[in-house]
Amino acid sequence: MNIENKTILITGGGTGIGFAIAKVLSLKGNNLILVGRREDKLKEAVARLPKASYIVADVTNSTDVENLVQQVNATFGGLDILVNNAGVVTAYPLESTEGVYEKAKFEMDLNYLSVVRLTERLLPLLKASKEAAIVNIESIVSYLPNTVIATYSATKAALHSYSQSLRLVLQRTHPHIQLFEVFPPFVDTDMTKGFSADKLSPDVVAEDIYNALQKNEYAIRPGLTKDVYHSFLQSPEITLKRFNGIEV
Ligand SMILES: NC(=O)c1ccc[n+]([C@@H]2O[C@H](COP(=O)([O-])OP(=O)(O)OC[C@H]3O[C@@H](n4cnc5c(N)ncnc54)[C@H](OP(=O)(O)O)[C@@H]3O)[C@@H](O)[C@H]2O)c1
Repeated sequence: MNIENKTILITGGGTGIGFAIAKVLSLKGNNLILVGRREDKLKEAVARLPKASYIVADVTNSTDVENLVQQVNATFGGLDILVNNAGVVTAYPLESTEGVYEKAKFEMDLNYLSVVRLTERLLPLLKASKEAAIVNIESIVSYLPNTVIATYSATKAALHSYSQSLRLVLQRTHPHIQLFEVFPPFVDTDMTKGFSADKLSPDVVAEDIYNALQKNEYAIRPGLTKDVYHSFLQSPEITLKRFNGIEV
């Protein structure tokens, strides 16, 4: 697709992968709308971009989402690209007997259900655009769950399943709206501060997204995700065990 003079909304655009995407997409006359809960982070981010503004909103809150949709309509009069990036992870032993349901629900609300709602509410604007896209930030764990972040993995698997269906439906009903999925490995952001592992730069992820959008490549697998995915296709059970540090 052509990424020029587009109006682009990025949830969680004030930090991490979202901000890296914003930097890459802020060239060529694109108009960016960054969304998040912390106004200070959004302000800082917008100040570093040529053509950007922000909307403070909690995407899990229905009132905030209605206000957000109204603001996008009133201020920008349309939308071409929606990047569903806001997300949260909690790491804890799955065998624990306290708080598992609450943590799983918290993750599911943001990582999956909020995406379904925001997409539903912004779809009319994307339908009205000449050339549109939805970019869902998923994870390597969308197809290879990790036991340390088991319920997070489940949210990203749900998002992957939903995205595949939505792509098929849009290809039939609104082919001008493309759906891209991004499957990053560990990336060096606030989210992974407590994890010790090799981490990819968010700028590399953003660059891969930019290139894939231009080439209409809808499955984006930055860094080691590409190799892990090939190994998963060849031997799913062995790859799952190795991915979880189990000797085979
Ligand atoms: N880092 C990784 O290793 C990695 C790997 C694979 C996939 N991902 C995915 O990449 C996406 C971005 O994560 P990141 O690594 O860049 O982490 P991050 O820097 O912590 O970014 C998360 C962003 O989401 C926003 N956010 C959180 N809750 C929100 C809410 N309820 N409403 C609106 N915005 C909210 C945060 O801003 P506020 O707190 O100000 O709201 C923040 O800007 C997530 O979906 C994550 O699951 C990350």
